[in-house]
Amino acid sequence: MNRPLLIRCARGEDEPAVLEIIERTGFFRPVEVDIAREVFSDSAEMKPGCTYQSYVAEADEAVAGWICFGATPCTLGTFDLYWLAVDPSFQRRGIGRDLVCYAEEEIRRQHGRLVVVETSGIQRYAPTRAFYERLGYVLAARIPEFYAPGDDKCVYLKPVS
Ligand SMILES: CC(C)(COP(=O)(O)OP(=O)(O)OC[C@H]1O[C@@H](n2cnc3c(N)ncnc32)[C@H](O)[C@@H]1OP(=O)(O)O)[C@@H](O)C(=O)NCCC(=O)NCCS
Repeated sequence: MNRPLLIRCARGEDEPAVLEIIERTGFFRPVEVDIAREVFSDSAEMKPGCTYQSYVAEADEAVAGWICFGATPCTLGTFDLYWLAVDPSFQRRGIGRDLVCYAEEEIRRQHGRLVVVETSGIQRYAPTRAFYERLGYVLAARIPEFYAPGDDKCVYLKPVS
C-alpha cells in the first residue's frame, strides 16, 4: 500500500464502494446494510438537520474504509461513533486506527469531549473489541442480551478533550 493515506469527506458517488466494503467485511446483517445505506446517503448529501458525518479513507486510489460519527442528541459534547468498516483486503494496515484518530480530532475541533462506541459482545466481534481497546477505549457497560439472546451490547468510552 502506498502511504500517505488520504482521509476525506464522503461523497455520494462513494456509496457503492462503501456498501461493498460493509458487505465484504461479513460483519453486518442485511438489515444493517440497509441502515448503512440510509445513513451513508443522508450524511454524504449533508441533508439539513442530519447529524451524521461521514469520511472515507482512500488507499491505492480506492475507497478502503468508512467512518461515520455525530453529536449525540440531548448531550453536551458527547459524540457517537456509529459506523466503521475497513475493506478486508486493507485490514491490519493502520487504516481503522487512522480513521478513528481523524474522527477524534474532528470531534475535538467541534468541542466534543466524549466518544461512545457500541459493539457486540459475541466472539465474532472479539477482534473489533480488541481494536477499540488498543485505541484507548474502555468498556463502561455491558447490557446482557441486548441485540439478541446471547448477544450483549458493549459500550466503550474514550474522553477526547
Ligand atoms: C475493526 C476494524 C475497523 C479495524 O480496522 P483495521 O484497519 O484492520 O485496524 P488497524 O490496522 O488500524 O488496527 C489497529 C490495532 O487494532 C488491533 N486490531 C485490529 N484488528 C485486530 C484483530 N483482527 N485482532 C486483534 N487486534 C486487532 C491491533 O492492536 C492493531 O494494531 P497492530 O496491527 O499494530 O497490532 C476492521 O477490522 C473492520 O472493518 N472490522 C469489521 C467491521 C467492524 O467490526 N466494525 C466496527 C463495528 S462497531
